Parts: sequence; C-alpha cells; structure tokens
Amino acid sequence: MTTPVRITDWIAKKTRSEKIAVLTAYDATMAGLLDQSGVDALLVGDSLGMVILGEETTIPVTMAMMIHHTRAVAKGAQRALVVADLPFLSYQATPEQALRDAGRLIQEGGAAAVKMEGGAPIAPTVARIVEAGIPVMGHIGLTPQAVHRMGGYRRAGKTEVQARQLMEDAQALAQAGAFAIVLECIPPELAQTITAALTIPTIGIGSGPDCDGQVLVSYDAFGLYPSVPSFVKRYARLGETLVAAAKEYVEDVREGRFPPCPPH
Ligand code: KIV
Repeated sequence: MTTPVRITDWIAKKTRSEKIAVLTAYDATMAGLLDQSGVDALLVGDSLGMVILGEETTIPVTMAMMIHHTRAVAKGAQRALVVADLPFLSYQATPEQALRDAGRLIQEGGAAAVKMEGGAPIAPTVARIVEAGIPVMGHIGLTPQAVHRMGGYRRAGKTEVQARQLMEDAQALAQAGAFAIVLECIPPELAQTITAALTIPTIGIGSGPDCDGQVLVSYDAFGLYPSVPSFVKRYARLGETLVAAAKEYVEDVREGRFPPCPPH
C-alpha cells in the first residue's frame, strides 16, 4: 500500500534539510510514470497552455482545462502530492470566486492543493482558501500570468527595491497560511535569503540551488518541448526517441514489414 505524500511531510522535510523534488504533469499516463520516480509532488501547471495546447502563454488556460487535466493526473498518481494551478482570472477578481475555483480543483479535479501567482496583495485570498481547508502554494518572482504587465518573461528581484518587495511578499504568503512558495527566476542569493527567513519550504525554478526544493516542467526536463529556458537540465531526449520510433513505424508500414505475415 503506497502512503501518499502530505503537505505536513514537506514541512518535516524542510526541518530535516531534505530537498523536495517537484515535476509538472498533465495526463494520467505521464503522472503514473513520474510517480514511480518518488517525486514529492506533481504540479498540474498552467504551463499546459504551452506544452500541451500549443498556446504562446498561460493566459488562455481556463478552469475547465485545469479541472480536465488535474482529474487525469490525480487518477495516474498514487503517491505524489497533486497540486493544481489556479489559472488566470480564476482568483484575482474576488476571494469568494477564488475559493470556489480552488474548491473545484479539489472536488472535481482531485487535487490535494492549489497554486496561485502573486504576493502580498493576494494574501487575504490565500488566507480565505486555507481557512476553508484547501492547502495553497504561493508563486512569486517571474509570474507567467503577468507576462503582459512584465513586458515579457523577465527575471525578477534584480533591484534592491524589488528584492525587498519579494521578501515582503513571501512573508505575507507564509503568514496567510501558504504551505510552500515557488520562487521563479529570482537571484540565487535572494532565494537563499527568503528560504532562510521562512519556516515553510521554498521551491525554486531558475533561482539557484539553495531553495528547499526544485520544480521543472517535465516536457522541458525530458526533452519533449523544443525550446527551453537556459537553467533547465535535460535529463532525457524523449522527443528524439519518439520521432525515431515513429519513423521506424512509418517505414515498416510502407515497406510491408508491419504487420508481419501470419504463419501459413
Ligand atoms: O505552470 C507551471 O508549470 C508552473 C511551474 C513552472 C512552476 O507554474
């Protein structure tokens, strides 16, 4: 019998200085495979807009899409904590709307926690959702849902003012009850300072080695998506393997090698 990972295990890991490993997943088959690696969480990221649906940004991702993919991942994962992204405009309008949408990802999607982008301004919303019994992961630094406001995908926290703001954001989220915070594309020294200041784990992406854990988009890490940020390590070239296998199949069919002739 597999024991599922709980958010309390994450806090314990931080206390023991054990690193937390997170990958994204978007469907049941991949979730089942990644789950076998012992990964601590599968994040149903709204990055699915790009890597699954071919969009340019995460902005077109809707609640219906998130529930659809979260449900699939929750069915495929036996052990890992399933965390689902609240998509653009599902939580920014009012705390009540945010609570209802977070509830749908848990109730209809089968997630165990939700993630939302933003700092101090969304802390009251985070508190409202946590109060209702739904674990929330924060996400600060480069926040892809704000791509238009940021004027592109830019590293965050480069100036002293920005760094101070990010520290305040992290503390506001922790005080509101977030169980962990993603730090995306911030300077490694700042990530280290924020990590040391918090009792909840930080999960880095493009933010250096001193966070309590790391997250990568699985399609980037395993070579399924063609263009990846420079901080990504490619652990496999599944895209190349897939193209080669598909070519072999096409040739076999065209040359009459598949299916083989039945024995007479
Ligand atoms: O959508 C996503 O995959 C994410 C991770 C990159 C943290 O938010």
